[in-house]
Amino acid sequence: MDPQIESILDALSVAVFIVDAKQKITYRNAASVSLFGAVIPNKKLSYFVPKKRCIRAVKKVLAGGERQSVDVRLQLVVPTSFRMTVVPLNTAGTEADVTAVVSFEDVSHILEAEQMRTDFVANVSHELRSPLTALYGFIETLQGAARSDQNASDRFLKLMEQEAARMARLVDDLLSLSKLQSEERYAPTEKVNVNPILERVTATLAPILNTEKVTVVPKLSSTLPDVFGNVDELTQVFSNLIENAAKYSRIGAEISISSTVDDKEPDMVRITVSDQGEGIAPEHIARLTQRFYRIDKGRSRDKGGTGLGLAIVKHILMRHRGRLQINSVLGQGSTFSVVLPRAI
Ligand SMILES: Nc1ncnc2c1ncn2[C@@H]1O[C@H](COP(=O)(O)OP(=O)(O)OP(=O)(O)O)[C@@H](O)[C@H]1O
Ligand SMILES: [Mg+2]
Repeated sequence: MDPQIESILDALSVAVFIVDAKQKITYRNAASVSLFGAVIPNKKLSYFVPKKRCIRAVKKVLAGGERQSVDVRLQLVVPTSFRMTVVPLNTAGTEADVTAVVSFEDVSHILEAEQMRTDFVANVSHELRSPLTALYGFIETLQGAARSDQNASDRFLKLMEQEAARMARLVDDLLSLSKLQSEERYAPTEKVNVNPILERVTATLAPILNTEKVTVVPKLSSTLPDVFGNVDELTQVFSNLIENAAKYSRIGAEISISSTVDDKEPDMVRITVSDQGEGIAPEHIARLTQRFYRIDKGRSRDKGGTGLGLAIVKHILMRHRGRLQINSVLGQGSTFSVVLPRAI
């Protein structure tokens, strides 16, 4: 093959094979070697792609057929989804001269994104549906059995208010998330000190801390440098972390909040929120920042949670060019650390 064409094919991320009239491989580009493994001479395409549908499509093209496309999932190092395309070459010669170009485009990421979108819509619908169903139930009761019962009416209206508030919170959280995702490329440029934010958040959360009977022990550095940050967004981060620590702690437990500059990472400011709650099993930790992921759905819902809190935290910290670290020991408690670049 012309070395220039070979270089062009090697530059592609799509795996390309050329097969002869007997489906024997006569050429492979670099991407096909890295995806399907090392070169083994004189092999047929079916050696690498043992799928009847694919072989049939190649046969069709070699027999004079038109271009073919097949979606296929192959077990390579990991299962990978491909769009296979077969195009005839040398069609001017006799049937024995006909060859075909077979390309494999990895479409796994497209399918994954599509799956995530479908799951997300299903989750949102489900989360909105539950309070809505409850509201319909209360309305029905108020129109019927509880019509002339003042006590029951008051009680149901209170519950209806709670369900409506849940729906409003869910919608607000979803809007926050989508706004954050669209602004993620722009890091905040204002210089702020996180200590006053932590103090304000703790004061605002006093009712929840009282309900859960937990006390906050602050250990804030008096010489803490500023970070580049947005006050409202950082307020949201610390609110969620402290609220989580309170909700998932034991009655009477302590939550310690610290702000420091770590010797190991002098360019960063580290804020930690530690609780003495039930802790989190390792298999859950990596998934906690996924939208709607909750270890115990019923429990989080009882506490008014939407399961979007940590997803919002993650996106805010990404925009801040910072990170969230989660350490936990089951039965002993968890530490959520926020690491933010300090302002220079
Ligand atoms: N400190 C913690 N200790 C134990 N589990 C926690 C802690 N923080 C979070 N989790 C677990 O992570 C899940 C996700 O937390 P996240 O903040 O995203 O949602 P939520 O608290 O359930 O709802 P929301 O934040 O919207 O009120 C929680 O449901 C809980 O199972
Ligand atoms: Mg939360």
